[in-house]
Amino acid sequence: MKKKNSKNIQTDVTADYLRDREYICENLNFNAAEAYKMLRTSIGFALASVKGCKTIGVTSANGSEGKSLCAINLAYTLALQGSKVLLIDADLRLPTIAKRLGLNKAPGLSELLMGQTESVIQKSEIHPNFMVITSGSLPAHPSELLGDDKTAGIISSLGKMLDYIIMDLPPVNEVSDALNVSRALDGIVFVVMSGQSGKALVRQAVQKLQFTNTEILGFVMINNDRDSIGKYGKYGKYGKYGKYGRAGKYGRYAESGDRYGGEEGQD
Ligand SMILES: Nc1ncnc2c1ncn2[C@@H]1O[C@H](COP(=O)(O)OP(=O)(O)O)[C@@H](O)[C@H]1O
Ligand SMILES: [Mg+2]
Repeated sequence: MKKKNSKNIQTDVTADYLRDREYICENLNFNAAEAYKMLRTSIGFALASVKGCKTIGVTSANGSEGKSLCAINLAYTLALQGSKVLLIDADLRLPTIAKRLGLNKAPGLSELLMGQTESVIQKSEIHPNFMVITSGSLPAHPSELLGDDKTAGIISSLGKMLDYIIMDLPPVNEVSDALNVSRALDGIVFVVMSGQSGKALVRQAVQKLQFTNTEILGFVMINNDRDSIGKYGKYGKYGKYGKYGRAGKYGRYAESGDRYGGEEGQD
């Protein structure tokens, strides 16, 4: 029975990633593409005083609120204006960038943090200015690995050849990783999903970021109610994650040190 459920979830997740393609990069509709251009402009103003490479994290209060798609679209939109951009999948517990962009999952960030430098930067096929470091193999202690001073060192040495580094981070309320890495960043873009992100949870996450003196550059609200099909599909999906505990996976990982149990086929 469990096996059957696992298989169903695997199929659903792959289908989700395929469907998500309509929400990224050149497939964005006009309004969404314009909204990302506005975000690009706002970030440019907010970080005008930062010399050299600008390093931005993308996070949210909880899981499944649109962080990864926002990070991909932000990186793409910055690449379109001619900036050299590196997108890093720093959600070492639930990485999705490799799969979504059709890249190798490893070697990636975790190998880089452990000292390997060869082949960790991959070229995306989306745009010549758009490079990617995927998550790499899942490490035993992601929070410690990311919080290590090495992260700041790596970011500053990578930054020498780049205009922007965008880091797709885990949610603030579920694990401490985003807070640990925030001191190496120039600022955070905070994603809120309309109809899903609870006010109290957002407030809680913002307070945590403020407590660590993280610069919140602004908020992005994802509206996934594009049409009735999207709307009902989304609510169905939300229910499913509630049931199997997508958000709970962060908690379980933190408690047991175990990796996901492979149910959702993140690999
Ligand atoms: N702009 C969007 N429009 C519609 N649905 C979206 C959008 N952004 C995210 N979603 C939905 O939310 C899901 C989770 O997005 P994701 O970026 O993986 O979230 P997170 O990284 O916060 O866990 C996606 O699979 C997609 O179904
Ligand atoms: Mg994500």
